[in-house]
This record gives sequence, structure tokens and C-alpha cells, in this order.
Amino acid sequence: MRDRIPAVGVAVLVFVLSAVLAEVCAIADEAGQVIQITAKRYEYNPNTITGKKGVPVVLEFTSLDRLHGFNCPGLGIRTDIAPGKAATLLLVPQKAGTFPFHCDNFCGSGHEDMTGTIVVTE
Ligand code: CUA
Repeated sequence: MRDRIPAVGVAVLVFVLSAVLAEVCAIADEAGQVIQITAKRYEYNPNTITGKKGVPVVLEFTSLDRLHGFNCPGLGIRTDIAPGKAATLLLVPQKAGTFPFHCDNFCGSGHEDMTGTIVVTE
């Protein structure tokens, strides 16, 4: 019987961590800190994202057509954006400024123009 305890302990830990994660997501939702961004040939909507230094935001991407990418080298974040599957990134900007982002998965003739900007204020 005793050797069952560790397994139960792990199950409880997983359950607690899941609950904590759900709570964090709920807090982010309540605070309005989830920014939804759609990607399609050859634009992001919105293509200007604003945030504040040190304030966490969740970026949630959805593709309306094919595989795109999101890459913001100045803030060190990137993700693939595949159709039918939301992609999320947690952004906690450590510096103020204007940071360009672009699509980094070739998606057609307008791929090079698929760009946007993240503006982080103090
Ligand atoms: Cu979208 Cu390349």
C-alpha cells in the first residue's frame, strides 16, 4: 500500500499545477492582457501591438489560411502559426521601444511584406 503514495503524490502535484496554470490564464483574461492576432496572406491584424515595460501580455495567434510565422528579434520571441491551432506567447517586455516583427515562414508572393510593430512604453 505504501508504495502507492508516490504515484498519488505526483497525481496531486500535476492536478495542483494544472489548477495554478488555469488560474494564471484566468487572471490574464480578466486583466484584458490577452491580445488576439490573426495572420493571413499577407498581414497580421492588428499589425501594431502596444504594451508596457514589465507588464505581461499573452499574444494569441490564429492563422486564417496557411502556415505563417511570427518573429520579433528585438524582443526575442517567435512562434509558428499553423492553421486550426492557436499559438500563444507570453511577452514580458524588459525594455521600452519600437520593435519590428515579421513572418518567417515563406507563405507566398507577399511574404516579405508581412510585417508589424510592437510598441513598448515605459
Ligand atoms: Cu506569412 Cu510568410
